[in-house]
Amino acid sequence: MTTKDDPRLAAVSILTPVSVIVPTYREAENMPELLSRLNSLRTARNIDLEVLIMDDNSKDGTAEVIARLGHDWVKLVTRTENRGLSPAVLDGLRIAKHPVLVVMDADLSHPPEKIPDMILALDSGQEFVLGSRYVSGARTDEDWGFFRWLNSRVATLLARPFSNATDPMSGFFALRRSDFLRAKYLNPIGYKIALELIVKCHLENIGEVPIYFADRKLGESKLNLKEQLRYIQHLRRLFIYKFGAWSRILQFLGVGASGTLVNLGVLTALRHIGASIDVAIAGGIGVSVLSNFALNRRFTFSYARDKSIASQLLGFCVASSVGSLMNFAVTRSVLGTWPAMPLQLAATLGIFSGMFLNFFANRYFVFRERRMTAADSSPINL
Ligand code: GDD
Ligand code: MN
Repeated sequence: MTTKDDPRLAAVSILTPVSVIVPTYREAENMPELLSRLNSLRTARNIDLEVLIMDDNSKDGTAEVIARLGHDWVKLVTRTENRGLSPAVLDGLRIAKHPVLVVMDADLSHPPEKIPDMILALDSGQEFVLGSRYVSGARTDEDWGFFRWLNSRVATLLARPFSNATDPMSGFFALRRSDFLRAKYLNPIGYKIALELIVKCHLENIGEVPIYFADRKLGESKLNLKEQLRYIQHLRRLFIYKFGAWSRILQFLGVGASGTLVNLGVLTALRHIGASIDVAIAGGIGVSVLSNFALNRRFTFSYARDKSIASQLLGFCVASSVGSLMNFAVTRSVLGTWPAMPLQLAATLGIFSGMFLNFFANRYFVFRERRMTAADSSPINL
């Protein structure tokens, strides 16, 4: 059954006024078809539809095309400050006046005809509805290169801790205005505004409507490598927002794991050039303490980056030596209690106790100051 034949749609269309937010940058060529398809939806379903074109001052004729078409339900917002896709979308979500908000691209990759299905899903209790490329029934254009496909899949996998949706990267989604207004600390960087909203509006019931994702025919994509790298930064912020102190411990453990590799690498290299065992061990420890310090200062405890590096380094070394003693003591006492235990297992327990002690010593002494709050995900702190 096509959406056209679905008798439920008429009722939905009358009951639910919708604001459609379309971020644009140089999309003048796509405006006529986009607005004509949205217009068909409006008239065929009698939807009370407002369209907000959030344009970053494209100067490519976008304003003229919209003026020429003369639709009173289309509002052009020309933005000159805080440019970018996500800020444009957020501004649009804020000024939209209807109870249901839909965000979509202007390049016709997202079929407007799917909007009624998305509203239906919201009405049946979903909190957030994605126009999805990966659920069954969905399709993407054939000439989507392997690289783009792989890229999209990897990005989706990395978003797994935040959402089980198959396509949280989609720029086509719908939510209730009341849910949007719940969000605090919205801080979008890059393109993944849907993921940001899912996490920060605490939306759990995610629906997905299959779409046919068409390649853009006119104009060009603005998604570049820089945006992709920003995504990693975005994920890290979401991680800290969602998992709070645990995310710091995990980052600390990640740094520790890298330090173990550095340690073993240096130790092996020193032995290779003929250093004694003692020098090799000490060298491995020394270099890994320094690399751990640098990484922890940059990532795990990034909020304290503006403090004096010399005193932090000193504190870090002291804390590390306390951790090392703890490591040694735990390993010895585990072996004392269970003499049959393999040395490696005992040493691993020692390493973990040392690491935990290290973490707390660093968190509360070396890189102290400031309590951690959800605002830790703001750009000033990271
Ligand atoms: N206002 C504004 N400012 N709009 C922008 C900007 C900007 O800086 N950059 C891009 N846009 C608009 C474009 O005009 C278009 O309407 C929409 O945002 C998507 O931009 P594209 O350049 O077409 O992006 P894409 O096709 O590579 O990426 C799309 O698919 C991704 C998943 O593959 C987007 O929907 C992404 O959100 C999505 O993650
Ligand atoms: Mn596109």
